[in-house]
Amino acid sequence: MRFTVAIDGPAAAGKGTISRGLAERFGFAHLDTGLLYRATGRKVLETGLAPEAAARAVGPEDLARDGLRTQAVAELASRVATVPEVRHALVAFQRDFARRDGGAVLDGRDIGTVICPDAEVKLYVTASAEVRARRRFEELRASGQASDYEDVLDEVLKRDARDMGRKDAPMRAAEDAVQIDTSEMDIDDALAAAVAVVEARLQGRGT
Ligand code: CDP
Ligand code: CDP
Repeated sequence: MRFTVAIDGPAAAGKGTISRGLAERFGFAHLDTGLLYRATGRKVLETGLAPEAAARAVGPEDLARDGLRTQAVAELASRVATVPEVRHALVAFQRDFARRDGGAVLDGRDIGTVICPDAEVKLYVTASAEVRARRRFEELRASGQASDYEDVLDEVLKRDARDMGRKDAPMRAAEDAVQIDTSEMDIDDALAAAVAVVEARLQGRGT
């Protein structure tokens, strides 16, 4: 069975949490596409390669390494993500993943618009910037990374602006995406909302 769930939205909206929940519930494979950009950004820093060459050199071992989830790497990721050649170098891998047998959920910024415009389900997950910064701040604190809430808010807003403002594949909701605002939802509520959309689509296909 081929069945693709495309999940887009800004930083710390809950994309990863919902994606993992859907993958577990429906047996789909999950790809966090942000890791591709994070690994590319870090490779540029570590090797001095040009961004496009770094994107081509990123392999599974880069995605599995620790330390990709820092604010500094997120910032690097959003910079290399503005380079069209970087984005193009990462397309084939993502599309192959999306069409694998058994179903797949991919989360990122341009999945429903550019990578998988024919996805069976498209979700655009959002939350207020303050709620997202609070979540990211708590996450950083829990993983032992010292940070200041105001700084995290500032970084989140700057990254969102860069992601929405770039020319190639800017972050936006696909016209046919279902929007889920998680500002007032806990994880269970957010996942339940996403599960309902996927179930309706699976039933519509008679699966
Ligand atoms: O993938 P994305 O950056 O969109 O967000 P995430 O990693 O799924 O979620 C960021 C943080 O917010 C995590 O610590 C989640 O547990 C938390 N979260 C939450 O508190 N309530 C939600 N409804 C969704 C996520
Ligand atoms: O977890 P969080 O939502 O904070 O970030 P991420 O999903 O790991 O993405 C890091 C950065 O990679 C984003 O700010 C985007 O600039 C870039 N990205 C992208 O351009 N396109 C994607 N499909 C995924 C991430």
